[in-house]
Amino acid sequence: MTAVNANIAAPRMLQVGGGAVKQIAEVLGKFGLSRPLVVSDPFMVSSGHIRHCLDPLAAAGVVVTVFSDTVPDPTDTVIEAGVAHLRNGDFDCLIGFGGGSPIDTAKAMAILAAGGGKMRDYKVPFAADQGALPVIAIPTTAGTGSECTRFTVITDTERDEKMLISGLGALPLAAIVDYELTYSVPPRTTADTGVDSLTHALEAYVSKRANPFSDALAVSAMALIGTHIGTAYAEPRNAVAREAMMIGATQAGLAFSNASVALVHGMSRPIGAHFHVPHGLSNAMLLPSVTRFSISGAKARYAEASRRIGFAGEGDSDAASCGKLVAGLETLNKALSVPSPADYGIDEAAWNGKMALMAEQALASGSPGNNPRVPDKAEIMALYREVWTGAARNA
Ligand SMILES: NC(=O)c1ccc[n+]([C@@H]2O[C@H](COP(=O)([O-])OP(=O)(O)OC[C@H]3O[C@@H](n4cnc5c(N)ncnc54)[C@H](O)[C@@H]3O)[C@@H](O)[C@H]2O)c1
Ligand SMILES: [Fe+2]
Repeated sequence: MTAVNANIAAPRMLQVGGGAVKQIAEVLGKFGLSRPLVVSDPFMVSSGHIRHCLDPLAAAGVVVTVFSDTVPDPTDTVIEAGVAHLRNGDFDCLIGFGGGSPIDTAKAMAILAAGGGKMRDYKVPFAADQGALPVIAIPTTAGTGSECTRFTVITDTERDEKMLISGLGALPLAAIVDYELTYSVPPRTTADTGVDSLTHALEAYVSKRANPFSDALAVSAMALIGTHIGTAYAEPRNAVAREAMMIGATQAGLAFSNASVALVHGMSRPIGAHFHVPHGLSNAMLLPSVTRFSISGAKARYAEASRRIGFAGEGDSDAASCGKLVAGLETLNKALSVPSPADYGIDEAAWNGKMALMAEQALASGSPGNNPRVPDKAEIMALYREVWTGAARNA
C-alpha cells in the first residue's frame, strides 16, 4: 500500500440496527435539536413510508414540517426551492429521509443556505465545508452511503451536468442506519443501489487515495455485498441479506468518502445527466469494461478485490483472480438483469453524439484522476463506445 497523508472524516454518531429509526427523537435530543425540516420525495410520502420517520417524532412531541419535492438525481432548481422553504421556517436541523436523492438534497440545501449564490459555485474543486444547519441522514436504500459521505451530487439544469460537491458541509452530523427500512425496496432498485455500493467499495480499494482506514471498510463491504446482493434481489424480506447490504453500503460510503471514487463514477454521472439512467444502473453498465481497462494499474488490488467479493478463491493467482473479476461482474449484471444502454431505450446516435462531452465532463469531475490507470479523453470515449457495443455483443 502506498503511504498517503489521509484526511478521515465521519459523522459524529451512527445509530445502526433493525428498528433504529424509532430512536430518531433521541438522536436529535443528544445534539439539542428539536425543530427539524424533513426532506424526502413524493413516493416516500404517497406510499406512507415517511411515517417511519414522522411517527416516532410525533410521539416525542416534535413538531415536523416536510419538504417532499426532491426528484431523482436532485437538481439545482429543487435545492433553491428547498432553501426558500428553509428560510420560511424556524428550523434547527435537516433530516434527509429516503434514498440518496433526498439525503443529497438535504445536504445541498444546508450548503446553499450557508453561502448563497448558485449550486454550481460549490462544485469540485471548491471546498464546500460550510453548512447552515446540521443534517441527520436516514437512508431507505442500501445504497449510496450518502448518510456518511462528504459528498452531494446535484444536477446543473442549464448545463445538463451532474456536479460533484465535496466538503464537510455535506457530511451529516449523524445517521440512522436501519435495514428494516429497505424491505420495501423493489428488486430493480435493490440491484441498482447494491451495485452502486459495490462500486464504491471497489473504487475506494483501488483508488490512488486508498489508505489503511478506507481499505478496512472497503474490504468488509466487498465481502458483505458480494455474499448477499443476489439474495437481497431475489428475497426482498430476507433480514440477513438486507442487514448485510445496509451495513455494506454504509461501510462502502465511509470507505469512498475517505479515499474517493474513480473512473466508473466519473463516467457514470454524465450518463445519468444526459440519459436519466438511475445512478447504480449506469455504474453497472460501465463496471465490467472500466474494470478490464483499469486492472493493469493495480493488479494485486483488483485480484484481492476479486477474492473478497467471492469471484476468485484464495488459491487463485493474481492474473486468474483479475480475469475472474471481470467475468464475475459480467455474470452479476446478467443475474441482476442489467439492461444494455440500447435495451434501456437510449438512442445510439444520441449516445455517440454525447460521447465527447460526457468524456470532458467525466474528466472535469476529477474522479478519473484517482483511477489506478488514468485515462485521457480518447480512452474514455473508447470506453463509452465499448460499453455500447460490448453490451450488445454480450446480450
Ligand atoms: N452523496 C453521495 O455520496 C452519493 C453517492 C452515490 C450516489 N449518490 C446520488 O444518490 C442518488 C441516487 O440515490 P438512490 O440510488 O438511493 O435512489 P433515489 O433516492 O433516487 O431513490 C430511487 C427510488 O427508490 C424509491 N425508494 C427509496 N427508498 C425506498 C423504500 N424503502 N421502499 C421503496 N421505494 C424506495 C424512491 O422513492 C425513488 O423512487 C443519485 O443522485 C446519485 O448521484 C450520492
Ligand atoms: Fe455511487
